[in-house]
Amino acid sequence: MTDNQLRLGVNIDHVATVRNARGGAYPDPVRAAKLAEEAGADGITAHLREDRRHITDTDIDALMEALTVPLNFEMAATEEMQKIALRHKPHAVCIVPEKREERTTEGGLEVAREENRLAHFIAPLRDAGCRVSIFIAADRKQIEAAHRIGAEVIELHTGAYCDYHAEGRFEDRDRELEALREMSAYAHSLGLEVHAGHGLTYDTVQPVAAFPEVKELNIGHFLIGEAIFRGLTPAVQEMRRLMDAARG
Ligand code: PXP
Repeated sequence: MTDNQLRLGVNIDHVATVRNARGGAYPDPVRAAKLAEEAGADGITAHLREDRRHITDTDIDALMEALTVPLNFEMAATEEMQKIALRHKPHAVCIVPEKREERTTEGGLEVAREENRLAHFIAPLRDAGCRVSIFIAADRKQIEAAHRIGAEVIELHTGAYCDYHAEGRFEDRDRELEALREMSAYAHSLGLEVHAGHGLTYDTVQPVAAFPEVKELNIGHFLIGEAIFRGLTPAVQEMRRLMDAARG
C-alpha cells in the first residue's frame, strides 16, 4: 500500500443484525469479514454495543481468532468495554458515544466536556498497544480535546453530510463537507491520524475520499445492504474502486 492510499475498514455489524433477527448462526459476520478481507478491505470494524443488539461477545472472540487484517473495535467509554478491549488487545479501539434509545451512533463524542475522564479511560488502552481513535464531529473544540487526551487518531462523523445529501439539502451538505475538509487538515496539522465514516455510500464517498489527510474510511450499513443485490465481494470491490479513483 502506498502512502497516499486510503484504507477501507468494512463494518460488519449489520450482518449480525440480520442474524439476530432470527437468532441462530446465519448469516455469519466472521464469514462476511473474511470475504470483505479478500475483496480488498484493509481492516474490519465491529461495534460491541452495550445492549448487544448486533455484534456479540462471541463474535469478537471469533473475529480476533479469524482475521488476518486489523480489527477496529468500536466501543463506548464504559468500564465493561474497557475490560473486554484489554482482554483482546485489538489493533485499534474507536471510542464512540452510545445511547440505548438511538438507532445508530447519532453524533460524535463530547470529548471536551469529559476530558479528564476520557484521558484516564484511554491511557490503559494505549499502554496495551491499541491505537485509540475518538469518533467526533468536525468541530475544532473536539479535535483539540481529542489531541490533549492523547488519542492518536480521530474519526470524523460523516453522518450529517450523508443525511443532507440523501435529503437533497445540497447547500447544507456542501457546508458540512467543507467543515469536514477543514477539520481533516486541522487535525492532521496537530499530528492526529484522520479517519472518517458513517452513512457513506457510493454517491457520497468520493468527496471525502479525496481529502489527502484522511487515511481510512469505515463503511458498513450501505455495503451490507448493497451485498443483497450484488453480493458482498463486488459491493466491497466497487467501494474500493471509487475510493481509489477519488484519491488517484
Ligand atoms: N464509524 C463509526 C465510528 C461508526 O460508529 C459506524 C457505525 O457503526 C461507522 C463508521 C459505519 O457507519 P455505517 O454503517 O453507516 O457505514
